[in-house]
Amino acid sequence: MKKRIAIFASGSGSNAQKIMEHFKRHADAEVVLILTNNPQAYVLQRADNFEVPSHIFDRYEFYETDDVINLLKNLQVDLIVLAGFLWLVPERLLNAFPNKIINLHPALLPKYGGKGMYGDRVHHAILEAGEEESGITIHFVNKEFDEGEIIHQSRFKIEPGDNLEMVKFKGQQLEHNNFPKVIESLLKKMKG
Ligand code: GAR
Repeated sequence: MKKRIAIFASGSGSNAQKIMEHFKRHADAEVVLILTNNPQAYVLQRADNFEVPSHIFDRYEFYETDDVINLLKNLQVDLIVLAGFLWLVPERLLNAFPNKIINLHPALLPKYGGKGMYGDRVHHAILEAGEEESGITIHFVNKEFDEGEIIHQSRFKIEPGDNLEMVKFKGQQLEHNNFPKVIESLLKKMKG
């Protein structure tokens, strides 16, 4: 049976798109659900384009009920992928899917992680600090923001003239090229 992936995203969903593309006609895995906290998120349009079902939830549903967990269990999801998802994952969801939730972060953790460190804010902080390199991290999710075990990192150089858009672009290229492959190799290592 194919491994079943669910993706959580809060915004544009360009990484979700790359993952859906990668697994569209894949022999071993498929994306079965897109979930978002944001009814305006462009990721919903992308899900429609790929004919992947989507589910929108609010704070109450996510933090006070088991509805999202039940949905994921009913769909027999093997791996949960956070791709630009900005809410902290509640412990009940972590406990329901131990070692089965991964996140993408646009920096070389443990640097530039934690609450409030997302998207452009991360790149801005990296430029402010005068870093000469940055990169991406893919890691398991635990109950703290950006602190779980690291699965993969890749890095790029920041040239002296690089502005925020350029740093963001370089990071995004790495994300798009690496995230689907890392997911694929992780799924291969998973039992069952
Ligand atoms: C990605 O760059 C991802 O690394 C970042 O949000 C972006 C989502 O882009 N995630 C975080 O900052 C999490 N702390 P996308 O919606 O186009 O995939």
